[in-house]
Amino acid sequence: MQKLHASIAVSSLFFAILSTTVSADEIANKSVVEQIVDAQTTLAKGPYKGLRVNHNKGIVVTGSFVPSASAASITKAAHLQNTPSKVTVRFSNAGGVPTIEDTNPNANPRGIAIRFELPDGSITDIVSLSINAFPVSTPEAFLAFLNARIATKPDSPKPTPVEKMVAATPSLQRFIAIPKPFPVSFATHHYFGINAFEFTNAQGDKHYVRYQILPVNGQELMSADEVAKAKPNYLFEELPQRLKKGEAKFRLVAQIAAEDDVVNDPTVVWPNDRKLVELGVISLEAPVADNATAEKALAFNPLILLDGIAPSEDPVLLARPGAYAVSVGRKLAP
Ligand code: HEM
Repeated sequence: MQKLHASIAVSSLFFAILSTTVSADEIANKSVVEQIVDAQTTLAKGPYKGLRVNHNKGIVVTGSFVPSASAASITKAAHLQNTPSKVTVRFSNAGGVPTIEDTNPNANPRGIAIRFELPDGSITDIVSLSINAFPVSTPEAFLAFLNARIATKPDSPKPTPVEKMVAATPSLQRFIAIPKPFPVSFATHHYFGINAFEFTNAQGDKHYVRYQILPVNGQELMSADEVAKAKPNYLFEELPQRLKKGEAKFRLVAQIAAEDDVVNDPTVVWPNDRKLVELGVISLEAPVADNATAEKALAFNPLILLDGIAPSEDPVLLARPGAYAVSVGRKLAP
């Protein structure tokens, strides 16, 4: 059975944002996730009616997923047993500016959101980024970072609010130092789950894992010269062409935590020598017929999970469904 963790928090937030009148007291009492969504909207110079607050330039494609034999050794989740699933995948640029050029550095990291639909109709989502760390460890710190960015103006005295926060936050310094290359295609970039999940197999054995979503043919990145010559929508124009040739396949892989790896902090990257278990292959087939309608209807949520996969206690992971629900509520508001 499909489980929606934190569903009470999600639905109460969802209904809260549909209420019509908001008093000054209610604004003062806004939850951290609502304040994050407000800050993301401000940074993007939004709101943009009918669109997501974040990652709102996207493309939706359909395909299939075939689990690997090794997947069942670490989880009993139904989509990772023997039966193939249908998938709907949405690739996106970072940020909340719907017209952002694909060649803009702020369009990195890219997003991939995958919805698995099993033959019995149940669903589960994986929502990942083209980078293997998050800049901060808590939603409160994320809000502080967004507010520092809002408070930093071209004429802000030095050190600016952003510079002060970066100087005081080693995880932000590490995040900034991670290379954020431009891919040749959405289908030639690697993506990472960042937040950990707990897998349980049929024997009751438990492991913490992080997802990696890796192009079957390896990464293909662009040089700075190529980026300078690329068209503003090059990724969005390239993907449908590539799909006609059937050249968009990803390995879904679980990176297994060692005994003492930190599992509740998305700023901590696990070493590369951790064991990898192949979970299966995602084959992308075609763009949806009507991208705008599909984007509006789809609401991904990293905590739509099937039995055999549970969230870690990572506070960033646990904050995400609430924030996404606020964004979805605003997207669907008349
Ligand atoms: C506190 C931390 C975070 C907050 C507040 C946040 C907030 C948001 C919001 C508001 C949206 C728009 C959702 C919608 O309207 O459907 C979004 C989308 C997205 N986020 Fe996050 N996010 C967080 C962390 C992360 C992390 C850790 C990842 C990756 C591991 C991630 C990946 C994505 C992706 C790929 C999308 C686009 C989903 C789609 O295609 O519909 N986010 N985020």
